Amino acid sequence: MDKFRIRGGHAIKGRVSISGAKNSALPCMAAAILTPGTITLHNIPYVRDIITQRRLLEDIGAHVLTPELRTHKISAAHIEIMAAPYELVKTMRASVLALGPLLARFGRARVSLPGGCAIGARPIDLHLAGFTKLGAEVFLEAGDVVARAPQDGLVGAEIQFEKVSVTGTENLMMAATLAHGTTTIHNAAREPEVKDLAELLNKMGARVRGAGTPTIQIEGVTELGGAEHTIIPDRIETGTFIVAAAITKGELEIRDCNPEHCNRVIAKLREVGVEIEEINQSTLHVRCGPRGLKAGDLITEPYPRFPTDMQAQYMALMTQANGRSVITETIFENRFMHASELQRMGARIQISHDTATVDGPSRLIGARVQASDLRASASLVLAGLVAEGETLIDRVYHIDRGYEKIETKLKEVGADIERVRESVTSPLPSQEEEEEDDA
Ligand code: UD1
Repeated sequence: MDKFRIRGGHAIKGRVSISGAKNSALPCMAAAILTPGTITLHNIPYVRDIITQRRLLEDIGAHVLTPELRTHKISAAHIEIMAAPYELVKTMRASVLALGPLLARFGRARVSLPGGCAIGARPIDLHLAGFTKLGAEVFLEAGDVVARAPQDGLVGAEIQFEKVSVTGTENLMMAATLAHGTTTIHNAAREPEVKDLAELLNKMGARVRGAGTPTIQIEGVTELGGAEHTIIPDRIETGTFIVAAAITKGELEIRDCNPEHCNRVIAKLREVGVEIEEINQSTLHVRCGPRGLKAGDLITEPYPRFPTDMQAQYMALMTQANGRSVITETIFENRFMHASELQRMGARIQISHDTATVDGPSRLIGARVQASDLRASASLVLAGLVAEGETLIDRVYHIDRGYEKIETKLKEVGADIERVRESVTSPLPSQEEEEEDDA
């Protein structure tokens, strides 16, 4: 298993380019199942979850070509199996995104029921209740979710989500594109990734309105065709690099991002003393303000509020801020695993239920630490950048799921970070790497 070795204390300076959003690329790749036409996706990030999603598509019979590194051409003209096996679902929860498209186009789908994961229980009950509303019969068989549409196909319905669910909204939106009649999703997720998927679906011939608002309306059509689409920039990678510049008291030009998608993160980070200037619609200039960092409380909530996927990185930053910050995690029940590793580096953090209290600034000292999930790993990298001495991060396969070459990007802007390869690695998860966290 690979590790990162970081020697802290170097201010990062320079330019970094943001990759495509994996959380947008994953549903867009799944949307290819909806049509016999070819879906061409550009700006696909080169991260492990994408390789897993590609494997899922190929396993069920789709053809995926990559004429360029970040372009995927997907043809699901001949799907042979309407199922996503346990081996894939257990490594990546987002495999459940195959359910909606398979059910809509072929009238049946079987996907292994994802279990709990590192950051919490994470049920998919809302997805399944939605499919039932569309007329599907949904049941559990040998650990798999089996869904069957009525003889004449799914039927549009009113779907009221009790809780905001990102992949739930995406799954239902995809399923409803080929249903008879109109579907309305109330309390839909408003994340930019949902909107990006809706744009792709509309290019394919779907009639989706309201994506990006809490009410999405989908008028079913009889078939969808091929389309070409460019994936939006990754707003979580953008936020992570803003924190990297701030925590090392460096200066960074962040290119190929979408500042609008990061509004709340930018506002919060400005509030705690980070200077962030919007150079243009895709470029940010970031540096730590002259008065240093000050503490700031935080609550994670669905978009457009502060994302849970930036909570761990914010916690790392707050270990370097003056004063006490109270961080409340409202989305996932077990998403503070980075806290104990940060404590081992010298951070003063107390956890009580869904709240972490961080007292700063702390002198962080490099240590051997373990990554537990994707964003937790990012927070350990950030802490390592500012810690004295050497930090060795174990199990960095978590970070490889969602950050494209993070060590290369950081190295190019002056960080002292290297990947220590312990064995010949495959881009696919090995047995011991098959725990999933999927965020
Ligand atoms: C997506 C993102 C993930 C992010 C999360 C929250 C992808 C691939 N992943 O995950 O990076 O951290 O949104 O912004 O886009 N819930 C239920 N029942 C359900 C579905 C969800 O109770 O059927 C709960 C979850 O346990 C959680 C909350 O709803 O507490 C939000 O989860 P959800 O938005 O569904 O997360 P994902 O879509 O899995």
